Amino acid sequence: MKALALEKILQSQGYGSRKWCRERIEGGDFRVDGQVFTDPKFQIDPSAHAFTVYEETFHYHEHVYLVLNKPSGYECSRSPTRHPGVLVLLSDAMRRREVQPVGRLDHDTTGLLLLSDDGGFIHRQSSPKYHVPKTYWAHTSEIVSEGDAEQLKQGVRLNDEPQPIAALSSKVIAPQTLEIVLSEGKYHQVKRMIAAIGHHCARLERVAIGKLTLSSLTLPEGSWRHLSEEERALLVAPPNTPPLN
Ligand code: URA
Repeated sequence: MKALALEKILQSQGYGSRKWCRERIEGGDFRVDGQVFTDPKFQIDPSAHAFTVYEETFHYHEHVYLVLNKPSGYECSRSPTRHPGVLVLLSDAMRRREVQPVGRLDHDTTGLLLLSDDGGFIHRQSSPKYHVPKTYWAHTSEIVSEGDAEQLKQGVRLNDEPQPIAALSSKVIAPQTLEIVLSEGKYHQVKRMIAAIGHHCARLERVAIGKLTLSSLTLPEGSWRHLSEEERALLVAPPNTPPLN
């Protein structure tokens, strides 16, 4: 990749203003592969090295693609009102990069949440046109049946929707848990679909996006990390998915 000045590398990763970064480098607080570099204008291929500032080592990312195991009690909105925003769970550097959640989960929904600073990626992942299936486990207050799952697959009517809304798939996975796969994300969609078949969704988890599963990540609740290239490849819609419109 094209060589960049050290001060630009540090600034682009969200560590601070250009001036702050220049001062850290001139002051001897910046290392490349363990070796102190003090010239902020020195140019280097950022993809080929590990950098350290104040004992924190990082690798250069032009864009970041993060996954968070979202706990209950955090809002995905950019201006949270009643609960803390999910961004407080990230590092200062990630917040400074203006990373945003990809789509929204309700404050009480837990599980897989993607975050990125790549607008194209956010659009592809959240647009219904791209059909990225999302898998939820809806834990209900009552016992559920295969008939309930069948109704969700056939389609249910939601108040403000002209057409019935159908799940891509649904099945009973425990006496009080329905798995439901959707490729769109209307407001409170799972909870409203569960209500439409006469049940109450007491707890909701997102357990997969595309083929990326929460269980494969071994990520404790409240923790986040960068997605690998292989993991990102799992986020796409399966081949031969028919277009929605
Ligand atoms: N459907 C819901 O009802 N809530 C969520 O958080 C996600 C999907």
